[in-house]
Amino acid sequence: MRSHWSNRWAFIMATAGSAVGLGNIWKFPYMAGTSGGSAFVLVYLLCVALIGLPLMMTEVMLGRRAQKNPVDGMAHLAAEAGATQVWKGIGYLGIAAGILILSFYSVVAGWVLAYGMRAAAGGFAGMAADQAQQQFAAFLGNPVELLLWHSVFMFLTMAVVARGVTSGLERANRIMMPGLMIILLILLGYSLAVGDIRRSLEFMFRPDFSSITPAAVLSAMGHSFFTLSLGMGAVMVYGSYLQRHVSIARASFYIVLTDTAIALVAGVTIFAIVFANGMEPAAGPGLIFQTLPIAFGQMPAGTLFATLFFVLVAFAAWTSSISLVEPAVSWLVENTRFRRRQAALLVGGTIWLLGLAVLLSFNVWSEIKLFGLTIFEQLDKLTTNVMLPLGGLLMALFAVWVMRAAHAQEELALNDRHYRRWLFVTRYVAPAAIVLVFLNLAGWLPFV
Ligand code: TRP
Repeated sequence: MRSHWSNRWAFIMATAGSAVGLGNIWKFPYMAGTSGGSAFVLVYLLCVALIGLPLMMTEVMLGRRAQKNPVDGMAHLAAEAGATQVWKGIGYLGIAAGILILSFYSVVAGWVLAYGMRAAAGGFAGMAADQAQQQFAAFLGNPVELLLWHSVFMFLTMAVVARGVTSGLERANRIMMPGLMIILLILLGYSLAVGDIRRSLEFMFRPDFSSITPAAVLSAMGHSFFTLSLGMGAVMVYGSYLQRHVSIARASFYIVLTDTAIALVAGVTIFAIVFANGMEPAAGPGLIFQTLPIAFGQMPAGTLFATLFFVLVAFAAWTSSISLVEPAVSWLVENTRFRRRQAALLVGGTIWLLGLAVLLSFNVWSEIKLFGLTIFEQLDKLTTNVMLPLGGLLMALFAVWVMRAAHAQEELALNDRHYRRWLFVTRYVAPAAIVLVFLNLAGWLPFV
């Protein structure tokens, strides 16, 4: 008998803990900034509502039905439906995606740790925009410091995964997540008081269809998968621990809502600071590290809030990164003779090494380009824009074309109208949208 979450909130908190992370605080604002602001935000919101929510339900449903890690789970579900074992490929694709994502995720989480230390040392007091930019550039230019923090973060992640006890982390999550929300609201309050909130809202929400390019659409769709942790099997694993009687639809709705709200608040706050200080929204991956120190440096009790903020973001990244490696480690433990510690060491070591290439691509190797992109950019694009949507597409197709309808219906336990809606979206809308976005870019994808 598998152990299960103690109640529905435990599942919601854990899955939201996986979803809320660097994707919301770091990636969403910088992607919106480089991909045309409101155009990106609009497509992102559409993707979250039309693809993300139904797919969240689908992935949870597959996990709860399978009661196993993604590879063996898909094998079991395929056998149950009398279909080919090739569907196991979804599990392998997810394991690979998780490893590749964590290799750059951990490097950026390292930046957050480093900035937390600087904040605690009072390093942001009275900082101006150009100073913040110079400081970040100097930081990125120092591979030794990046290596140190990447290593610390990987160690923290693998230490939890090696023990296989996430329960302590879950309990901490219950304090940290609301903590992060509160401090974000404090930052938002600061932005309302002294930032350029009007331009920020315009930038993010005034429709401007001229900047909707095929590339921006793909980035926005990919990001909707990334930020919700979809298409990789992480949600499937969490779903496999969900008790029978819990409503999948309602739980999914809360998770998606929380994740989206946090991203939007972070975005509005950061762009208000960007515009008030005459900075560039398109600064790229350094955006929050170049803007937030200015805000913290000016506000009362800024050192305290800044330290708390970076600690809480690091914590959010930690709960996310565990869900990125857990499928790989649990698959190794259940299918090879490795014990959990050894499996964690092997997977963690591989990711740490890949992370070295990523952090060097910000300095020493910044001129090394694969099809026009640095190693960091290429890994990000490959996973976010290709592997996750592909994984999600295959899960959706499996759920509606391969799995027996009665089984899906039994898990989802929706009333007739809602079930038909889920079926329609999962059968036609989501697959068509993903395929169209892919095709639209077929001639353009940077790594082809
Ligand atoms: N969603 C997390 C974030 O936004 C990152 C993440 C965790 C993830 N697990 C995942 C992304 C699985 C894709 C797949 O920070």
